Amino acid sequence: MSATDRQKYFIEGFRQSAPYIHAHRGRTFVLAFGGEAVADTRFSELVHDIALLHGLGIKLVLVHGARPQIESRLRSRGAKLEYARGLRITDDAALACVKDAVGSVRVEIEALLSMGLANTPMSGVRLRTSSGNFVTARPLGIREGIDYCHTGEVRRVDGAAIRQHLDDQEIVLLSPLGYSPTGEVFNLSAEEVATAAAGELQADKLILMTEGPELRTGRRQQISQLSLTEATTLLNSGRRLAEDTLRHLIHAQHACRHGVSRVHLVSRRREGALLLELFTRDGSGTLITAETYEGLRSATIDDVGGILGLIKPLEDEGILVKRSRELLEMEIPHFLVIERDGAIIACAALYPAGEGETAELACLAVHDDYRNHGRGDALLRALEDRAMRSGIDRLFVLTTRTAHWFRERGFLPAGIAQLPTHKQGLYNYQRNSRVYVKTLAETRDDR
Ligand SMILES: CC(C)(COP(=O)(O)OP(=O)(O)OC[C@H]1O[C@@H](n2cnc3c(N)ncnc32)[C@H](O)[C@@H]1OP(=O)(O)O)[C@@H](O)C(=O)NCCC(=O)NCCS
Repeated sequence: MSATDRQKYFIEGFRQSAPYIHAHRGRTFVLAFGGEAVADTRFSELVHDIALLHGLGIKLVLVHGARPQIESRLRSRGAKLEYARGLRITDDAALACVKDAVGSVRVEIEALLSMGLANTPMSGVRLRTSSGNFVTARPLGIREGIDYCHTGEVRRVDGAAIRQHLDDQEIVLLSPLGYSPTGEVFNLSAEEVATAAAGELQADKLILMTEGPELRTGRRQQISQLSLTEATTLLNSGRRLAEDTLRHLIHAQHACRHGVSRVHLVSRRREGALLLELFTRDGSGTLITAETYEGLRSATIDDVGGILGLIKPLEDEGILVKRSRELLEMEIPHFLVIERDGAIIACAALYPAGEGETAELACLAVHDDYRNHGRGDALLRALEDRAMRSGIDRLFVLTTRTAHWFRERGFLPAGIAQLPTHKQGLYNYQRNSRVYVKTLAETRDDR
């Protein structure tokens, strides 16, 4: 590649990543990786990427594993870590190895994060890390007659303390260990710690760096995005999944159900995968989103009353065009709604225009009490997704007061002449709405 091409790619790439840089600033990400990543000679590359994320204003909680390090200590002492029903049994000898391994892995990570060598991406960077007794654990106990000894499960994560460190611009480092109020130490799974921390902090993202193969469809195509429902269906389908993938999907499901709206599975072995995942449209791994868990779904005839109640004040104000109950009943298959505690708090509709691959986005409304929390965005994304699945690649909207909201989401001003012919005939000149159009791209733009 010539120097000019290289510059061109750099400029294009940098510009394309700008929206993600803005979107991620000030957000909280929990990033988990196994002890395998730490043992890898290329671990410093991941550390450099972590430093970059920190530099871009992302609040980071790192959670490390230590399985290979624990196993090698056990081997050298002639012992072995026993498993029962997929769970470790940590006896006294194993616990000594766990403490030893976890301690040294943590020190190693801290040392790398402290490195500020010239000629590395860390040059001149001063990172502060903190680790401590943030995780309270309890014993797994005796299950079906098997005593799991010092293997534990997370009882509580001290979110307030972690948040304080994050607000002080520190990177928080969590280990797969927890302490009990009785002063005991328990061996935990790093993924469980990460999931519990992400839920407690209501993190914007939980990122699980995976060791195993990437998640693929039956036709070997990589799955780049799954809704929580789709992830659940996959887990229940009986399809054989790699052990690593299965574990990660279960943790993703758990995190989504506890308020983490995005979980990313990212291959640790692919160079720069973390940056690709976070700063490019197509990403590199699998994104599991919790939107559907928040109650976003297709409308049914039972929602007509709720939608009417939601849109009535907006119709009275002249923001939305009036719709009778009868019309709404007929049009209900075009609607998506967000339901919360049995009430419809947001809606939007997609009307195929009957001409080519164009559709109208209409009746977008979020209840006054629930605005500014991304629900409008979530509905728009879901409608765009629905449109693309039905082969529609162009959306238009008619609006009187919400033009900027649409412009900020990729809609461009257009003329009446750009509307489908039948819609031009119906155009209400008295209402004088502006026309906006968006061309949909087959990409994932919500990382
Ligand atoms: C437009 C609407 C659907 C957005 O819903 P929402 O859930 O609040 O949207 P989001 O949380 O995704 O986005 C909020 C952002 O949009 C901005 N916004 C809200 N209404 C806006 C408007 N009329 N014009 C420009 N920006 C607007 C908010 O200021 C906020 O931006 P900020 O965080 O930078 O301040 C909601 O405000 C609404 O129901 N409005 C009345 C109905 C309407 O206008 N529908 C469109 C008919 S064409």
